[in-house]
Amino acid sequence: MIPAQGDFDRDIIVLDDVDLSADIPAATATTREFAPEFADSADLTPMDNVSGLAGLYRARLRETTPRIFALAEVVSRRLANRDMAVIVPSLGVAHYALGEQRFVLFALSHLLGSPTATEPRTRRVLWDVKPRRDLNVAFATYSEHANEAELHTDNTFSAHPEASFFLYVVQEAQCGGGLSYFSNGMRIRDHLARTASGRAAIDLLGRTPVSFRVPSTLSQNPAVPEYISATIFAERPEIRFRQDVILSGLKARPGPDSADVEVAVNRVADAAQSVRTSELKLPTGGIAFVDNHNALHGRSGFEDKGRHLIRVRMSP
Ligand SMILES: [Fe+2]
Repeated sequence: MIPAQGDFDRDIIVLDDVDLSADIPAATATTREFAPEFADSADLTPMDNVSGLAGLYRARLRETTPRIFALAEVVSRRLANRDMAVIVPSLGVAHYALGEQRFVLFALSHLLGSPTATEPRTRRVLWDVKPRRDLNVAFATYSEHANEAELHTDNTFSAHPEASFFLYVVQEAQCGGGLSYFSNGMRIRDHLARTASGRAAIDLLGRTPVSFRVPSTLSQNPAVPEYISATIFAERPEIRFRQDVILSGLKARPGPDSADVEVAVNRVADAAQSVRTSELKLPTGGIAFVDNHNALHGRSGFEDKGRHLIRVRMSP
């Protein structure tokens, strides 16, 4: 049945709480054995797939951390079946030291797929999502500030945005802000396809590449604006979207179709709003897994500078 307007929350699957705490010692020991060079779990880099190390690490984790493995299996199945987002309100590890929680997240990410490096310099897997106090770069990512983050694909400006990501809540915002919401790409296209102008937008944005500006923290030379170009609708990701970045890219690098593309982009943004879920609070110790090739996600602004999430992105 097609949900009534405002009933799009059913695309978010909420699973029961789990308790992964019994797996903390083994997740820590196994990871330390495979990556002895890292004293601090915050600095861990992706296990190498080419050398086979990642495969060996995964095989060992399946034996030593059965609870983390079981959760990864359930979530993988859900995302493979095209559920938009899966939430587990508690992993049962929030009262442990942050360094221990990170080992669990690192292991979990490898059992879900191949986590990617967050940025080229340190190549860390675990990215801290919290407002940066020293923010004076020309163009920041949403994860570095506290303003509203409008509906977007994570890592939009990458040549290959990852298939999925998770957000783990170390400390929820105490100010009532920082709420999450989603928009299902399949519902966005379905909504557009109901009108001739919407169908024209799908067609135009499926064949006209647009420019995405790369954030300063991720660019080779932060002083020089850098762009990648891709279509908004494609086979994979099925939708790649961040309205403000696309519109500023159109201004900076106009093409013959710019005016039509701008109208179509705004139509997609309107459609995304029309099928948006309500805002929900991810609680401290909880986690959200997101199909990044289909879902757009956003977050309301917040005041509490103590809000702290950890994000990990994964390729299949
Ligand atoms: Fe994001």
